[in-house]
Amino acid sequence: MLSMPLFSLLMALLFIFFIAVNGDSSYTVPEETKARDVIGNIAKDLGIDAAELKTRKARIETEDSSKRYVDINLNTGELVVAETIDREKLCGSRINCILNYELVLENPLELHRISVNIRDINDNAPMFIKKRISFEIPESADKGQRFRLDEAHDYDIGQNGVKDYSLEKNNHFVLSVKENKNGRKYAELVLDKELDREQQKNIDLILTAVDGGIPQRSGTAVIHITVLDANDNVPVFTQSVYKVVLAENALIGTEVVTVSAEDADEGANGAVTYEFSHIAHKAAQLFTIHEFSGQINVAGDIDYEEEKYYEIGVQAKDGSGLASTASVIIDINDVNDNAPKIVLKSLNSPLPENVIVGTEVAIINVQDKDSGDNRKIRCAIHGNVPFKLNPSIKNYFLLSTTSILDREMEEYYNITITASDGGSPPLSSYMIIHITLSDINDNPPVFEQQSYTAYVIENNKPGNSISAVTATDPDCRQNGTVLYSLVPSEINGVPVSSMISINSDTGVIYAVRSFDYEKFKDFKVQVVARDNGSPPLSSNVTLSVFISDENDNAPQILYPAAEGKTLMTEMIPKSALSGSLLSKVIAVDTDSGQNAWLRYQIVKSTDPGLFTIGLHSGEIRAQRDITESDSMKQNLVISVKDNGQPPLSATCSIYLLISDNLAEVPELKDIIYEESNSKLTFYLIIALVSVSTFFLTFIIVSLALRFCHRRKPRLLFDGAVAIPSAYLPPNYAEVEGAGTLRSSYNYDTYLTTGSRTSDFKFITSYNDTTLTAGGTLQNIKNETLAASLISLNNTGEENED
Ligand SMILES: *[C@@H]1O[C@H](CO)[C@@H](O)[C@H](O)[C@H]1NC(C)=O
Ligand SMILES: *[C@@H]1O[C@H](CO)[C@@H](O)[C@H](O)[C@H]1NC(C)=O
Ligand SMILES: *[C@@H]1O[C@H](CO)[C@@H](O)[C@H](O)[C@H]1NC(C)=O
Repeated sequence: MLSMPLFSLLMALLFIFFIAVNGDSSYTVPEETKARDVIGNIAKDLGIDAAELKTRKARIETEDSSKRYVDINLNTGELVVAETIDREKLCGSRINCILNYELVLENPLELHRISVNIRDINDNAPMFIKKRISFEIPESADKGQRFRLDEAHDYDIGQNGVKDYSLEKNNHFVLSVKENKNGRKYAELVLDKELDREQQKNIDLILTAVDGGIPQRSGTAVIHITVLDANDNVPVFTQSVYKVVLAENALIGTEVVTVSAEDADEGANGAVTYEFSHIAHKAAQLFTIHEFSGQINVAGDIDYEEEKYYEIGVQAKDGSGLASTASVIIDINDVNDNAPKIVLKSLNSPLPENVIVGTEVAIINVQDKDSGDNRKIRCAIHGNVPFKLNPSIKNYFLLSTTSILDREMEEYYNITITASDGGSPPLSSYMIIHITLSDINDNPPVFEQQSYTAYVIENNKPGNSISAVTATDPDCRQNGTVLYSLVPSEINGVPVSSMISINSDTGVIYAVRSFDYEKFKDFKVQVVARDNGSPPLSSNVTLSVFISDENDNAPQILYPAAEGKTLMTEMIPKSALSGSLLSKVIAVDTDSGQNAWLRYQIVKSTDPGLFTIGLHSGEIRAQRDITESDSMKQNLVISVKDNGQPPLSATCSIYLLISDNLAEVPELKDIIYEESNSKLTFYLIIALVSVSTFFLTFIIVSLALRFCHRRKPRLLFDGAVAIPSAYLPPNYAEVEGAGTLRSSYNYDTYLTTGSRTSDFKFITSYNDTTLTAGGTLQNIKNETLAASLISLNNTGEENED
């Protein structure tokens, strides 16, 4: 058992110890100080800049979430009274009334312990529980006999507690003031002069108790003494101190102890009654004593956490008012009846997802009102979360991250924290902390495809959508909002923006103009997807646009020249046999594929059975041997049609003259200008043509005759056969791939493949004067002349009729 002075010394030492250890602040404030009164400047005392208080969320916290009587003024850093404190209500008879608080600062977590010592002021007067103290004293009582009086109570403590007693002046009694082992003063009535019942039957005296406060306060009671005749005995307790141990939470009605006193008297004088002679206000609500049996019972909720022991004075009084006292000391045992309490002191949520590993997220305080092992708390985190709990100052824990967080993976965490104490069985509690992550623009938009391809049919309508790109960004709101744009570039010198456009919100790509396959077949453009964060993140992708062909170009006849342009006349030897190659229609189509696959047809001829044309080669051959009876002048109308949908076509006329010698052609005029009425002009032309052609033919024929006697068939090409380069369509050689004409140098690959009769075989060079097969020697020097014989679009098939 601790005596009160020792206990208070220990408390004081403990108090000093805490201050020393934490280096924190201690303040003293008298009770009954009004709210908003300043206790001290805590910011100054702790060396904290008062301006920081607000930003660091400075606040006063209690250690055990109890009521808070002080507060901090965030502007000045002053510690102020939050609510008027009544020391007596708060601490009862405890010597030290200390409120422990913590000043919590965040970023970083800082904890300063503040203790506020509530100084007692003399606001309570001494008081007797019973205003009338009755005694029955036999007249035989000896001088010097003592009678213990009820103690006076003063809720104040120390100096302000009961200091002295005084008795109204009288003839028989004096007062002896004593101190019990708790340091409390009590008084005994001492008989100073024998009583005489015959002289005075009743005596009333006023007992005054005073405290030591300034100003002094006092309380009184009346002592009523009845002088008895008989000889009485004083009841005597069996023990002077009854010491018991009581578990907290003992049920109401539980017997604590039974005190008993014996009185040697018989009858009413020996009938002992019990009562509390001294009992603290709180204890009076927790315990009762049975008047006759002396049994002390539990009458309220015993809580170790409120009071660890009680000392109660009991008094036994017999019928004649003779009394004696004893004390009952009740030690309360702690029971593990309080589960740990988890208090979230600070939470940094939403937490930016890019915080570094180890960032403090929350401050947690654990409390357990029990003592000893019952308040040893272990804390743990449940589940697999990237957070850990680190013990910090005292019973504080810091929750910090253990790995990099990613909002796009996990948007929020529910962290379950459990705290269990060391009692048996242990009690535990848990708390769920919700942590939300806030977004950081850490993801660039990502296209759904590595590259995009758009196919557009040429001659498209401007404004039509041709493709769409999609990029996704998992970030939040504007950080995840994707905007599309085209990277400025040029295609064949034309800015890409004049070709296609993109809807910046949807990623839909539109054609700005109508494309022409014959101008370009494909182009590439970079599309950028950018989010709206700051700074924004972006990524890009290649969009390839392929333009596909449409049959928008009609075949173009290179030879013979289109109708009406020039005079085109072919001479055919009279001896031409069936199947011999007589001439060739050359046409191209700037479209590609099927659209450029040409078919040749004779649509009109002077003698329908005489000539055929290769469907794909355009070669005009004799269908049968030419005879003398055949008309000398032959006229063919040939159509060239492509294979597009719908097909496009072109026609040309070709004039054939069956003759070995121009001189034999007296009526050439009929062929050339069948419909001309101007005979004069006609003859003039004939004369001119005849003279020049004759001369030319003569030279060629005589040369040919020198090389080969048996010429069959003989081919004669008019000078007009030469294809002037101006006949070639624009960009002709530039058309690549699917075009009909790869390059002018490719002509030789097609040579004679369509020619069944193999009258000519151009093996290596156009300049070669030697013909190896067919025995016909034809010196063809003119390269353009040779070119005219080439099947431009021969697909390799045999000539068909
Ligand atoms: C987290 O807790 C909230 C609120 O209690 C609840 O709505 C949510 O479903 C929980 N989430 C998970 C993943 O447990
Ligand atoms: C977007 O990210 C930035 C940092 O990159 C962040 O400050 C902002 O709060 C984010 N916006 C949203 C809506 O989450
Ligand atoms: C496109 O992306 C590549 C690599 O992803 C980058 O190097 C380039 O700068 C980007 N171009 C544009 C115009 O953003």
